[in-house]
Amino acid sequence: MPGYELMGREELAEIQDIFDHGAVLFRHGFDGLRQGRYKVKDFEAAMAAKLGTGHGLAVTSGTAALRVALAALGVGEGDEVITQAFTFVATVEAIIESRATPVCAEVDATLNLDPADLARRITPRTKAVIAVHMLGTPARLREIQAVCDQHGVALIEDTAWGLGGALDGRPLGTWGVAGTLSFDFAKTLTTGEGGMLVTNDAGVWARAAAWHDHGHENNPALPRWEDSRASSGFNFRMGELAGAVGLAQLRKLDAIVTAQRAHRDALWNAIHDLPGIQPRAVPDGAYETADALVFFVPDAAAARRCRAALLARGLATKILPEATSWHFAGAWTHMPELVRAHGGNLATAFPQSARWLGRAVSMPVGVTLAADAPARARLALTEALTEVRVDDVAPQLQAA
Ligand SMILES: Cc1ncc(COP(=O)(O)O)c(C=O)c1O
Repeated sequence: MPGYELMGREELAEIQDIFDHGAVLFRHGFDGLRQGRYKVKDFEAAMAAKLGTGHGLAVTSGTAALRVALAALGVGEGDEVITQAFTFVATVEAIIESRATPVCAEVDATLNLDPADLARRITPRTKAVIAVHMLGTPARLREIQAVCDQHGVALIEDTAWGLGGALDGRPLGTWGVAGTLSFDFAKTLTTGEGGMLVTNDAGVWARAAAWHDHGHENNPALPRWEDSRASSGFNFRMGELAGAVGLAQLRKLDAIVTAQRAHRDALWNAIHDLPGIQPRAVPDGAYETADALVFFVPDAAAARRCRAALLARGLATKILPEATSWHFAGAWTHMPELVRAHGGNLATAFPQSARWLGRAVSMPVGVTLAADAPARARLALTEALTEVRVDDVAPQLQAA
């Protein structure tokens, strides 16, 4: 979650560059005035180069990136799109906005999509699958891609948490036909609000680019207001100020992920041998962004004790165990489309996911880590898992 931790002069310099050269805040046109400054286009090109993918399309949010990806794939009424029961509501919202039916599959010990359950939920109406790399750990993409290929279904990667991660050396977001990124204020890179679609498929990119811009094809032979169009669309264009911030942030990506991984390791080394702690499963070949340190404890009561003990020691948890209301489909009774798709009862629809999530604890990891944080984490979790308050026994330990 560190994009905002490193917000500074570099971002300001990119914005200043716009104001020093015509102050054009729109991604298109005004070519004479802007003196060669195209921050959104540069950000797209830089991200595509960084990920080794053909194209990037910057949009206004990660949610918009998902909606645009579904539009570019022609998803609509009568189609089903499968995602996972542990994700942010945005993934399902984008499917509902596409007028498709949202279906959630179970997560496994990776806390990402369970390929076996995915295979069970595919029907002749399934048009796309959205796999999510929750909290920076790669989904089982090899197996998920194989299921999608077997059924001729498109794979989209919701890479809101996964930017900077990889599986088998291949960046997350570049396995599926499209990957979507989020640059909201809690993500690895931030533009305040923002997102991007990345793809190797020129056709998907062209349809997405038009759809996010009211259907404009940006035909170079025509002035914009006489532009050609082949589909309806919407306005999800990123503005130049966000593009400028994104360009500066992207240069920090490697340093951010390197720092997060070191801090995640320092925290894990301090707690891994405590009784009852079990690591989150990670696919072989994964390179995690280490956006969070996630582990399992024996039961839900222990998970709640861990959260309370961490807070008492000035530390925090991130989503798990406390915030599953926004991140677990079993709680989304406010989404009638989802409720209908799961037989009218979400509460019992995802027992496997509920079991894993109920005893999971997630600690935020950032670019900065207080020197004593690993020791405090150990004290807090020792108390929570042994139900003994360390301060009470510390004098005896010292005396011994
Ligand atoms: C898994 C996931 N997908 C999509 C989004 C949506 O991103 P944004 O907030 O940029 O719309 C989020 C945001 O937290 C997310 O966690």
